[in-house]
Amino acid sequence: MLTVREVSFTYKGHGKGTHVSALKRVTFDITDSSFVILTGRTGSGKSTLLQLLCGLIEPDGGEIHCEDGDLFSKSSMIFQYPEDCFFNPTVMEELEFGLKTAGKNGTEKLKAITEVIGFDLEKFSSRTPFSLSGGEQRLLAIASMVVLDNAILLLDEPTSGLDDRAVQRVRNLLLSEYRLGKTIVVSTHWPAEFLDMATHVMNLRDGSLEYFVTVEDYVDSNLHNRQLEEKEKYLIDYYKRFKAFPENDEELIEFVRREKKC
Ligand SMILES: Nc1ncnc2c1ncn2[C@@H]1O[C@H](COP(=O)(O)OP(=O)(O)OP(=O)(O)O)[C@@H](O)[C@H]1O
Ligand SMILES: [Mg+2]
Repeated sequence: MLTVREVSFTYKGHGKGTHVSALKRVTFDITDSSFVILTGRTGSGKSTLLQLLCGLIEPDGGEIHCEDGDLFSKSSMIFQYPEDCFFNPTVMEELEFGLKTAGKNGTEKLKAITEVIGFDLEKFSSRTPFSLSGGEQRLLAIASMVVLDNAILLLDEPTSGLDDRAVQRVRNLLLSEYRLGKTIVVSTHWPAEFLDMATHVMNLRDGSLEYFVTVEDYVDSNLHNRQLEEKEKYLIDYYKRFKAFPENDEELIEFVRREKKC
């Protein structure tokens, strides 16, 4: 269980009037093996919150408590543009760097991850990370964090700029980690990408927590009642009708065709 109580964080600039209050007395609990979608407009505090949950920065006020162990050793964070941080000469060294630093052996885990995301390790292992496509680079960066096998995975907009195929691979990886019992928090501007596999949705507004609800409550209480992306709108309509999400995109498309009678 992750317990966040009255947590505040201010970025402190040097000049007068340069302090930015990024999070204000935020309180919530995340039970183990939850899959939480973190939403909120640009500047609402998502990245700041993820960095606090990872132990990279410390709150100025309030407390973050993680049962059995410290945050830093239990969680891994994937930054918004993780491929900007590559510094190893080969894909394999990039994948193994974190493992070596943590003194872990991740051969089996690495095999499982690359299978799930369809990443051809044999083909790519001795190439430089910079020779991969944008989608492959993002998957490499995500895989190199997930392979550490930490209990809490924090992902900051992992699908931004990815094409549909790469998004599906990220989804596959997160679903497989979730099924292994991991706790996942993923920030996104497009909740629909993960709504069918998530357990909760939380929203930040100007640094304050606007809501933290189950996916069912998110759909039923019309919390989504703002400008919805097309896919999210149909997913929600589907869920309201059948009390479940469609198994795949084809099922959703079929439903939309029937609704629109086309
Ligand atoms: N290093 C920093 N120094 C000063 N202010 C910062 C810093 N990082 C973020 N901020 C400010 O803190 C607030 C919260 O920023 P944060 O990056 O956490 O929001 P976000 O929800 O992740 O936004 P986005 O959707 O654009 O990624 C914003 O007002 C932002 O300008
Ligand atoms: Mg951010």
